[in-house]
Amino acid sequence: MKSIIIAVLLCIELIHANSDCPKIITRNRWGARTPKETHTITTPVEYVIIHHSVTPTCSDEDACSKRLISIQNYHMDEKHFNDIGYNFMIGGDAKVYEGVGWSKEGAHTKDWNRKSIGIGFIGNFSAEAPPYKQLSIAKKLIRCGVALGEIEENYKLLGARSLRPTDSPGDALYKAIQNWKGFVRSP
Ligand SMILES: *[C@@H]1O[C@H](CO)[C@@H](O)[C@H](O)[C@H]1NC(C)=O
Repeated sequence: MKSIIIAVLLCIELIHANSDCPKIITRNRWGARTPKETHTITTPVEYVIIHHSVTPTCSDEDACSKRLISIQNYHMDEKHFNDIGYNFMIGGDAKVYEGVGWSKEGAHTKDWNRKSIGIGFIGNFSAEAPPYKQLSIAKKLIRCGVALGEIEENYKLLGARSLRPTDSPGDALYKAIQNWKGFVRSP
């Protein structure tokens, strides 16, 4: 009897973990290039760092995929990163796009890339915050990371501006994340 109850609870836990995860548009699907190098990091990470891309936004998978391709080209060819800098990007179509992905070292915040997940919102959010659906899918991605053991349960959420000289994630998005779970102004 006891073991049946435990089995049922485990099932519920698994379903629960799964339901926390949004569908992720893989690198293959959006057309990513092969990275120059890939570095694995120790997880769960303690920090989640929010950025904006300061590019036009995008409202469907085709347009968002083109944005990711151009951001990856810029990061690899102009900034000489190994790959696209973010772990994930969030499109204006409210879809999650895989950057370097979970458990990988990004190139979004110098000195923090090995202990954080960097999430880049596609768009310029200085004056206007992202639409509700774009914000909520990002929150879902963070919950998913916790459920998967990629992000610490008591993670700290920061805007990129708290860690390096940048305006990112833009005034409006920075304001929007201030009531999210785990938000801190400084680490
Ligand atoms: C981003 O938006 C702000 C506010 O609307 C604007 O001043 C700035 O020029 C924009 N940046 C770019 C790179 O388009």
